Amino acid sequence: MSRPLVVDVHTHVYPPSYMAMLRARKTVPYIHDPATGEPRLIILSSDDDPSIPIDERGRPVDTSYSDINVKISFMQEHGIDSSVISLANPWLDFLEPAEAQQWAQRINNDLEETCAQNNKSTEGLPLKGRSTLFAFAALPLSAPSPDIIVNEIKRLKTLPHIRGVIMGTSGLGNGLDDEKLGPVWAALDEMQLLLFLHPHYGLPNEAFGGSGVTNRYGHVLPLALGFPLETTIAVTRMLLSRVFDKFPTLQILLAHSGGTLPFLAGRIESCIMHERKFVDNGGDVPGPKRSIWEVLKTNIFLDAVVYGTAGLKAAAAAGEGTDRLMFGTDHPFFPPLNEGEKEWLSVTTNYKAIDKTFEGQQEAVAAILGGNAARVLKLE
Ligand code: URA
Ligand code: ZN
Repeated sequence: MSRPLVVDVHTHVYPPSYMAMLRARKTVPYIHDPATGEPRLIILSSDDDPSIPIDERGRPVDTSYSDINVKISFMQEHGIDSSVISLANPWLDFLEPAEAQQWAQRINNDLEETCAQNNKSTEGLPLKGRSTLFAFAALPLSAPSPDIIVNEIKRLKTLPHIRGVIMGTSGLGNGLDDEKLGPVWAALDEMQLLLFLHPHYGLPNEAFGGSGVTNRYGHVLPLALGFPLETTIAVTRMLLSRVFDKFPTLQILLAHSGGTLPFLAGRIESCIMHERKFVDNGGDVPGPKRSIWEVLKTNIFLDAVVYGTAGLKAAAAAGEGTDRLMFGTDHPFFPPLNEGEKEWLSVTTNYKAIDKTFEGQQEAVAAILGGNAARVLKLE
């Protein structure tokens, strides 16, 4: 099928240097090389259950995670013209403070170099059909001082292919409503770098009935429910702590269509209106001033990685239109179960959901598939 420009804003890599670092570790996150069979990626805390034999923990990890040529083949196979690559979870969150700055510079330089090398032979041509790469950088969030993070954000502006940063929900260790993150939000806002907010930590196993249950059903509960709720909680904490009042032009892209934010926005807003703790309602906590609906329309972009029409309709309704929704794949996660299968079900499901939800609305489909990302991230 011939498609308009397709840009994938949700697609991950582990550069070879990061893979080597994971291989050298024995605690989460790490890569384990069994005596036979494929290496295993053990990154979620629920993956590292001692009752599971180590050779079976986590998930298989192949070259699609680190070899950029495999990513390019995947893009060509699925009609993707341009990808905005980002380091996969858990990014640099777990690093010792003294190591964080160096690793961030190394990974971000690697990402920049990968994009530059890849794009150079077709520089200046239109994006369509060119298999171009851009990137969201990683931040040294465990660094000993926020100044180091701010300096890295400023340095990123000098790297021509970096269009934003990817971040998890732990912030400096205390979540995204931490006042100490103020200088980081200010720097991102000032440098006009989009913040791609992505989950990793999920919910405790107890939320799902304990590790017996999560072991039985593998990644279904943590990835289908834990991840989206984590994102929803993180962005709601940002809202409650007035991040969007203090930084009204901060731009953020929420993974997985905002987790459950579009569906729950009305309930969140209603709970805020009825909360007696907030100053406006007679309490002493300065609650958020701008409504969640306004924030959804001015600060928040949502990816279209939600695999169904109900989620996409909620996402479009939350942003009051289709100009804040952007196609993504989550590659290299959710690969086909059978070796040799070229078409990824996870990708075709998202394409089909977009086509069905916006049937007959060519402009909306073109905007979601690539137009919005090209405009917002200035990819041309
Ligand atoms: N699983 C992960 O750990 N990360 C993703 O981004 C998707 C699935
Ligand atoms: Zn992802």
